Amino acid sequence: MFVSSAPCSNQIQRIAALKDQRKAVILAHYYQEEEIQDVADFIGDSLELSRKAAATDAEVIVFCGVHFMAETAKILSPNKTVLLPDLNAGCSLADACSPDEFAQFRADHPGHVVISYINCSAAIKAQSDLICTSSNAVAMVKSIPEEQGILFAPDQNLGNWVQKQTGRKLVLWPGSCIVHETFSEAAVFKLKAAHPKAELIAHPECQSHLLDLADFIGSTSKLLSHSKTSTASSFIVLTEPGILHQMRKAAPHKEFYGVPGLDGCSCNACPYMRLNTLDKLENCLKTMAPAINLEEVLRLRALAPIKKMLELSN
Ligand code: 13P
Ligand code: SF4
Repeated sequence: MFVSSAPCSNQIQRIAALKDQRKAVILAHYYQEEEIQDVADFIGDSLELSRKAAATDAEVIVFCGVHFMAETAKILSPNKTVLLPDLNAGCSLADACSPDEFAQFRADHPGHVVISYINCSAAIKAQSDLICTSSNAVAMVKSIPEEQGILFAPDQNLGNWVQKQTGRKLVLWPGSCIVHETFSEAAVFKLKAAHPKAELIAHPECQSHLLDLADFIGSTSKLLSHSKTSTASSFIVLTEPGILHQMRKAAPHKEFYGVPGLDGCSCNACPYMRLNTLDKLENCLKTMAPAINLEEVLRLRALAPIKKMLELSN
């Protein structure tokens, strides 16, 4: 569980005033610090955030998330200024999938359709036929004819889970999320023993031996909605602990337990997501930087498979 100091109300008012002045909208992922979630206009999972970025009539999008998310917003809304409070907010999945190695991976598997998880750079999206998020990966794979070979990148844990859900054989890129790989199985068993009636709910980026223990698996938004509608009154939550803030707000009478990392470390908090702070958010609205920029040729190539995903998941 991460600890955050209470933001001063003056700062929240300053951010609101800057937001009006800039005609900006603040989009935030569930893994952001609580105080950032509290000033956001919209909080969502990757799919919902890309839909919002495509539909907003704001002139400026402040993307409180990681680089690939802000980049996706820019791909979808090229005429808007897209700001990312900390430009170093990367992602282990996106950073470990280089365009050259990916091109080689594709060349090694000719005749395959390429489905890439949205957690990748524009250069990887541009080499893909279809993008997916954790909430629609099963449906995206099912949209491809049965006999067609599929390359799936860059998250092998999500890919493994999709294989089990669809019965399809996917050729997986060997990437993983450093956060979802860190959860301790021993800590899960300890929490299950202490709270035997709690449901274990998990994000599909977790390793398969943990997913095998889960009562429910889904994207961050699906985990949140399940925690609201389930008859269970307590939950062990196997994903980044930022999501607990919205879960506790939506169901204050229910109990939510985050799972620590190996050796009880707090490395279950995404170090990239947590680079964004309220100070950096205020600063980017003041200075209109750092902004995301993309070459038009690359943007258009990356846009095609995202558009296809949005059409297929409508
Ligand atoms: P979703 O919000 O799509 O579930 O993805 C989680 C994630 O890891 C984002 O980096
Ligand atoms: Fe990337 Fe994992 Fe952080 Fe999501 S939680 S941004 S997949 S490193």
